[in-house]
This record gives sequence, C-alpha cells and structure tokens, in this order.
Amino acid sequence: MMAETGIPPTSLTSGAVAILATADPAAKASASRRLAEMWEAGGLDVGDSVPTPRPARPERPQLRPPKEMPKRRAFGSPAGRIALLHALAHIELNAIDLAWDIIARFSREPLPRAFFDDWVGVAAQEAVHFELLAQRLADFGACYGDLPAHDGLWESAAATAESAIRKALLCCAASIATRSIMSQPECAGSTNSAALAASFRMRRSNSLCRAISRAS
Ligand SMILES: [Fe+2]
Repeated sequence: MMAETGIPPTSLTSGAVAILATADPAAKASASRRLAEMWEAGGLDVGDSVPTPRPARPERPQLRPPKEMPKRRAFGSPAGRIALLHALAHIELNAIDLAWDIIARFSREPLPRAFFDDWVGVAAQEAVHFELLAQRLADFGACYGDLPAHDGLWESAAATAESAIRKALLCCAASIATRSIMSQPECAGSTNSAALAASFRMRRSNSLCRAISRAS
C-alpha cells in the first residue's frame, strides 16, 4: 500500500514512517489518504516505528533558506498566481509530513487513541489540500517543483523535535497562513482559485483544532 514499497503497513506508525520516506509528493499525498482510511477502518494498531530525522523530498523544488528566496511577484499576474499556488502547495506538503512525524515521534507516549485520530485526520486533510493545489497549478500549466521553495518550516520543526505543542502550533500556523493567503483579493480575482479557497474553508481542519486543543 505504501507508495515507495508497495508493502501494506503493519501499524499506523510503520505507515507514517513509510510516508515520511516517500519523496514523490503525489505518492505521499495519496498514501496519506489511504493510510487514514485504513486507520479509520480500525484495522491498525499504533505500533512503535521510529521516524526519519527529516522527511524525504523530491529533487525539485530546490530548497533554499528563507532569506535566499526570490521576492514575491504581483499576485495578479499568471506568474504571480503560480508562485502563490506553489508556495501554498509547499506549505501543505510540509504539513502532511509534520502530522505523520508527530504521530510516529510520540507513539511511545501514553497518549489516548484520540490523539492519533486527530493527527491522522490532519494528515489526510493536508493531503487533500496539496492535491487541490497541485491540480490548480496544472490548470496554469505548472507543477509543484517548478519553483524554488524555502525550508524554514521543517527546519523549525526539527529544532522543536521533542515538543508536540510547538509542532502543533507550526502546523496550525501553516494552515492559517494558507487560508489567509487564499482569502486575499488577488486570489479572489481568480474564479477557480476563489472556489479552491472556499473548498479549503469548507474543509477547515476540525481535526487540527482538536489536536491543538489536546496538545495545549
Ligand atoms: Fe492545509
């Protein structure tokens, strides 16, 4: 079932670790949805597989320190919209990995099953967000990987590897950033992007809210 191995996961955390080790973004997203379905069906134990220090990434996009990123283009132009959608897709991809990393990293703690329910829900929702943005990029003849992306979110997560709360807040910040950017007038000027933003609001992460409140 897992994208890079084809082997069904033996536990939630073995599936999470396999997803973290999956470099291809589309495979990572689809595997996330499938693992969430398996978890929600009740067929998996939590397990105790250990996550990799950093998730696998494709060769493209090139990852740069935030200060080396090119300046934002005007959102109203096609190039500006592609840049915005690409940046959002990058946030969502990081959010998928952050959710699975939290699940695997804290699997040995005495946490209730609801903790894992919530974070599995977050991972699945972020996977859908990534897929929606990848589709919107395709509408513009672009794809994730076409532009450089910053590595700041995961660097921050690695620096707070033992803090579930701080990681949860990072995940929350990424989600809020996505929604606030998608609600900007420049986004609303594009009918399909406005529909995508509405879809994001409809899919607003109840799981994320529950996970944050439990971690606080
Ligand atoms: Fe998201």
